[in-house]
Amino acid sequence: MAATEFVPEEHYRAAAAAVRARIAGSPAIGLILGSGLGPLVDEIESPQVIPYQDIPHWPHSTVKGHAGRLVFGELEGQPVVVMQGRTHFYEGYSMGQVTLPVRVMRLLGVNTLVVTNAAGGLNASFSAGDIMIIEDHIAFTGLAGFNPLRGPNLDSFGPRFPVCTHIYDPGLRKLAHRVAAENDIPVREGVYVGLAGPSFETPAEVRMLRALGGDSVGMSTAHETIVAYHTGMRVLGFSSITNLSIDDPEASEEVSHEEVLRLGRQIVPRLAVLIRGVLRQMPPYDPAEVENHPEYE
Ligand code: HPA
Repeated sequence: MAATEFVPEEHYRAAAAAVRARIAGSPAIGLILGSGLGPLVDEIESPQVIPYQDIPHWPHSTVKGHAGRLVFGELEGQPVVVMQGRTHFYEGYSMGQVTLPVRVMRLLGVNTLVVTNAAGGLNASFSAGDIMIIEDHIAFTGLAGFNPLRGPNLDSFGPRFPVCTHIYDPGLRKLAHRVAAENDIPVREGVYVGLAGPSFETPAEVRMLRALGGDSVGMSTAHETIVAYHTGMRVLGFSSITNLSIDDPEASEEVSHEEVLRLGRQIVPRLAVLIRGVLRQMPPYDPAEVENHPEYE
């Protein structure tokens, strides 16, 4: 597989045109479902499905637990598009390729992205099975030079130097807390650390990431959020804490992908209630309230 580092504008447009040719209507809200969270798609009414392989330039996943389908339909009366499964940088795709779906969603009409992931719990007060609302992120991949916006800036999507101060929408975070309280669902809030993977963290890395202010750690999300926010989308993010990060080299327990998937499935019903509640009460999108003011055709 050749990794196209800088995806040209025509690839996004060709992918969007292929989707439009098969789907009636225009989604306003995009959802990306992380490891083990795929069953959330069962909540979608009147689903119309497009396998990723049918969309030109769309990266497809090779990882167990990531189905690889785009599902259009309604959730709580809102027109949504759901990515059931995502591709990861560690699979060998470029940052431009793994974030292509976010820009295609924008071209299809999405103005609000709800992004979910499976994550390790760095915060020592967390438990496996917790849900964390993402307050902010540390995009380790981006800081290390793999920022998804590296390369020629496509001005039709957003500015060269996007502001990222309120990258996880403060209003939507507040709404998520309110929905959680209304439904007696305990939630955490914290900073997600986005790494490249695929190896899990060493105990020394866990201690470092915790010292740097990280609360959860995973291999996705941060670069997707950067690209979404660059295009002027509102972003709401949830980490499902599928395991606690191991900070002691003498520890006897181990993290495993199977355990990540198992815990993810356990979290799905609570996450579904939260996402439904947020969608039900979602305030209308107002471009004046986002920092990277978009102008799209
Ligand atoms: N580290 C990185 N990614 C993950 C983890 C983890 O502990 N758990 C689920 N995804």
